[in-house]
Amino acid sequence: MNLAVVGMQWGDEGKGKIVDILSEEFDCVTRYQGGHNAGHTVSFGNRRHVLHLIPSGIFQPKVTCVVGCGVVLDPLALIEESQAMEQVMSIHTEGRLFVSNRCHLILPYHRVLEAAIEKQLGERRIGTTSRGIGPAYEDKMGRRGLRVCDLMSPETLREKIAGLVAEKNRTLEALKYPQTIEPDPICDSYAGYGEKIKKYVCDTSALLNKLIREGKRILFEGAQGTLLDVDHGTFPYVTSSNAAAGGVSAGVGISPKYVHRVLGICKAYTTRVGGGPFPTESAEAGEQLRNRGNEYGSTTGRPRRCGWFDGPAGRYAAMINALDSLTVTKVDVLDAFAEIPFCIDYKYRGSILTEFPADVAILSAVEPVYKTMRGWQAATAGIREWSKLPGAAQDYLKFLSDYLEVPLSMVSTSPSRDETIRL
Ligand code: GDP
Ligand code: IMO
Ligand code: MG
Repeated sequence: MNLAVVGMQWGDEGKGKIVDILSEEFDCVTRYQGGHNAGHTVSFGNRRHVLHLIPSGIFQPKVTCVVGCGVVLDPLALIEESQAMEQVMSIHTEGRLFVSNRCHLILPYHRVLEAAIEKQLGERRIGTTSRGIGPAYEDKMGRRGLRVCDLMSPETLREKIAGLVAEKNRTLEALKYPQTIEPDPICDSYAGYGEKIKKYVCDTSALLNKLIREGKRILFEGAQGTLLDVDHGTFPYVTSSNAAAGGVSAGVGISPKYVHRVLGICKAYTTRVGGGPFPTESAEAGEQLRNRGNEYGSTTGRPRRCGWFDGPAGRYAAMINALDSLTVTKVDVLDAFAEIPFCIDYKYRGSILTEFPADVAILSAVEPVYKTMRGWQAATAGIREWSKLPGAAQDYLKFLSDYLEVPLSMVSTSPSRDETIRL
């Protein structure tokens, strides 16, 4: 049985922790979209490690880790991350980590272009992670991007990069951005990166299809979350890939027939980093949620915006992904609150909306309708059994699961691998 694990909110739901735990039951964990904009935290013992490109199955020694063709790859980020894996965690990646030869590459000019575009947007900027993700996907869809297989042919690489750099410089000039790109240093460094990552590169679709034929179990690890999906999220305040479960098949090169189950992960409340509408954002409780939940971006360190659980957005994510089961994380962060507002509806111009709005102007103007849930004001941090949770915490989680009409499979009560309730 293969499983897709997806974020149901605006990312940072705790996917890294949950994928690490679940990967014990799988033979392979593969990323299918995004890039090193992701920051997936895995904590065990007294160790805490943030993964950006390497799948969160890497800490289970028998798991094969794959970076699928739908990921945009910054080769230097991969080199640095795999080195850290060897040096800090003593985990040998060769023979365990495989990167698709069809991944599109992030080049230094993608980051410069992103900076130029964000600057031009001013107040309307997306608040990206500045990793060059959007411009790299633009080049992919524009059918001009470079791929990992191009790095494997250094003879022609220089010419391809030079052509692209000339085009990017014209764009930067049009944007009146005070920077020009020099092709030669990029050509030199990328040829070197190709040499270094060669040991990971293969046709990962062929690899995954072989594993499927052998009856091996595959976990597809989502990055970002459903509300950041380029098609289904709060466009334009989204990332540039399909983070929802629909992205799996194209993002790894297997038939959708082989994605058997979908697990959704949400926090017991909501966070978002970057710009865009956030109906349940709370000025009063936000700071307390941020402090208690240590809500600072795993990739950029930016403070995350915080608010209450957004039911209509959760229901939308449950529908888009057709979730089979639900994992709720960071329940312990709510321990301090006497009352916990839970958004059950959006009101817009006096009426309750029946659908999640496509237009961010509408989403920005909706008024959340809250049901006030009883808090538990008792420590849940570290609890590993459902029966040990305070009654009000059980009620909150049952309400959440009933509201979303998705059965609860796991509850997380701390960053640590072991401190999790399995149902
Ligand atoms: P991801 O991007 O979805 O993998 O999530 P991140 O790693 O970016 O952010 C989740 C943060 O919450 C990390 O710092 C985790 O260590 C932490 N975390 C995960 N589950 C829990 C939990 O149940 N309780 C608390 N307090 N922290 C958690
Ligand atoms: P994980 O996998 C939270 C957000 C950025 C910005 C928008 C677009 O750790 O959940 P991008 O750099 O992707 O073009 O930025 O998406 N964003 C994330 N927010 N968690 C992430 O990843 C994110 N990856 C991107 O903050 O609002
Ligand atoms: Mg994260």
